[in-house]
Amino acid sequence: MLIRPRRNRASAAIRGMVRETRLHPEQLVFPFFLIDGTSTRIPVASMPGIDRLTVDEMLKEIGECMSMGIRNFILFPAFPEHLKDKEATLSWNPGNFYLRAIREAKSLYPDCTIITDVAMDPYSSDGHDGYVQDGKIVNDITLPILAKMAIAQAEAGADILGPSDMMDGRVGYIRQALDEAGYSGVAIMSYTAKYASAFYGPFRDALDSAPKSGDKKTYQMDPHNRIEALRECELDTLEGADFLMVKPALSYLDVIRLLKDNSNLPIVAYNVSGEYAMVKAAAEKGWLNGDAIRNELLLSIARAGADIIITYFAKEYAQWYTQNNLSLKK
Ligand code: PBG
Repeated sequence: MLIRPRRNRASAAIRGMVRETRLHPEQLVFPFFLIDGTSTRIPVASMPGIDRLTVDEMLKEIGECMSMGIRNFILFPAFPEHLKDKEATLSWNPGNFYLRAIREAKSLYPDCTIITDVAMDPYSSDGHDGYVQDGKIVNDITLPILAKMAIAQAEAGADILGPSDMMDGRVGYIRQALDEAGYSGVAIMSYTAKYASAFYGPFRDALDSAPKSGDKKTYQMDPHNRIEALRECELDTLEGADFLMVKPALSYLDVIRLLKDNSNLPIVAYNVSGEYAMVKAAAEKGWLNGDAIRNELLLSIARAGADIIITYFAKEYAQWYTQNNLSLKK
């Protein structure tokens, strides 16, 4: 036998050299669920290890994460029901704690990246990402609402805005609104291929943001489709997106690869709440090795073509990564 692939797997050092994919903590984004108040952390039942945080608690977390090499954060708010309305007006009220969280994070940690969520659902009494009229989600009434929300977030100091609403034309609309308001330096991370998925369940529990009626299938993508993601990719690119996202990640690795092969923009994958919950549940039962599964799953997302991964595992991966590197130095 002339050719023996096993020679390149002979030792940890050789395997380390020939490794094709590496995942560094600086590629990760850590999500935070935010609540109003002070000094409070409320666990999310379906996401062991993840809490809803008040702004002061978030600041402590950011400090800890920064010291471990996690520098990028994406923020989601949970507002009480009585503050929500049809037009999501709370979203651009500068007094809301979400905008305060952005301001305080950027003033205490100017070097961190703050990514926001642009969609109506956390502020809408209908619980949908767009404006609801006669039971329908109306695209073009939603766009100016999203733009107002986006400008308020940019004004608060956000680095990157994340439209997760899946309305048509929203990237271009928000881009133009930002530029006109003097925020041409604020980037857009578009949820390009966001599928109507059952994997968002724990997230909606965490934020009490489930739709009051109907589902999100008229705006989020149909899980049967792949080519349609290319169409969204083309539009978001033409409309000025700076990052393209695929969401969820694990059941959509083929879509991540498709976008990676067809775009020169950075590709982001959102390893969503349900994907996290499955691993934690199996690990708690002792059915799987949680650490090993986490690493293998994150690696699979990177190997599929994601340059950046948004994941609830970010902090524990960084912890593992640091320990692993220290032990290598010995
Ligand atoms: C909604 C939004 C959702 C998530 C991020 N932004 C849920 C949804 O579309 O219903 C899900 C994230 C996760 O499950 O981790 N704008």
